[in-house]
Amino acid sequence: MTLYRRFDAFDRGLHVALMVSFLGLAVSGLPLLFSESVWASRAAHALGGFQAAGMIHRISAVILIGVFLAHLGRVGKRLVIDRDFGVLWGPASMTPQPRDLRDLFNHMSWFLGLGPRPRFDRYTYWEKFDYMAVFWGMGIIGGSGLMLWFPTLFARVVPGWVFNVATLIHGEEALLAVGFIFTVHFFNTHMRPGKFPMDAVIFTGRLTEDELREERADEYDRLRAEGRLEQLAVGPAPAWVLPLARIVAVVVLTVGFAVVALIVLTLLNAPS
Ligand code: HEM
Repeated sequence: MTLYRRFDAFDRGLHVALMVSFLGLAVSGLPLLFSESVWASRAAHALGGFQAAGMIHRISAVILIGVFLAHLGRVGKRLVIDRDFGVLWGPASMTPQPRDLRDLFNHMSWFLGLGPRPRFDRYTYWEKFDYMAVFWGMGIIGGSGLMLWFPTLFARVVPGWVFNVATLIHGEEALLAVGFIFTVHFFNTHMRPGKFPMDAVIFTGRLTEDELREERADEYDRLRAEGRLEQLAVGPAPAWVLPLARIVAVVVLTVGFAVVALIVLTLLNAPS
């Protein structure tokens, strides 16, 4: 079975750091947001108290900011040093393009049985949406979070009411981010038919030839036409990667679904 490289070690490492930091931020931030709930005080207690939760939140935030800067640095290197402008536009770019709208429309038609399944290239429209969600989320949640972390510094340049707005935005965007990642992103990547119970590609970095040909037919044809497919052939991932990935995925999915269930129950039981 021929395997092809989809994600290199740098991207896989960044995704692991992103998962760990996001989970740490969600688990330590939500008890603060819902601090009147019984489960929140128990969760904070389990983390070592509200003060410890705040510390875990800040450490996780530093990791997340590091991930974001490392990613930006790599994109910058490709642009400035490698002169690879394909990161900005084209089939290997995360930038939404007219083709994504067409793919979205054709995909909906296929769901309704009104047309054939669209052929995708390296990144599908929903993968770009997930990526962009993290990108704008970093600006909003990271910017407001830094304001809450360093109020005296920011108070030199912004009026006091901005901090109230930042607290509100931070909490609401956190709910949106947690709700999105722990439902839509989890479904898109692990729960959809053909992938359940998990898609290990982000951990192994590898796709089988069948997966590449069926799921990303345009990329497969393009790489073959350009004579680049063979360069991407790789051996299997080290034996420990898949079992570890399975454990990580089970833990993350369980925590994620539990967090969503707690949020929904708390919001449903909130006094109107
Ligand atoms: C760079 C990213 C982030 C930074 C710098 C940051 C920073 C902070 C700070 C300083 C606080 C106040 C904590 C305290 O009073 O002890 C806070 C609260 C909070 N954070 Fe974050 N955070 C970040 C990302 C996130 C993310 C990704 C989530 C959710 C997944 C999140 C969820 C929350 C929640 C729910 C609160 C409580 C808000 C409230 O009390 O209304 N944060 N954050």
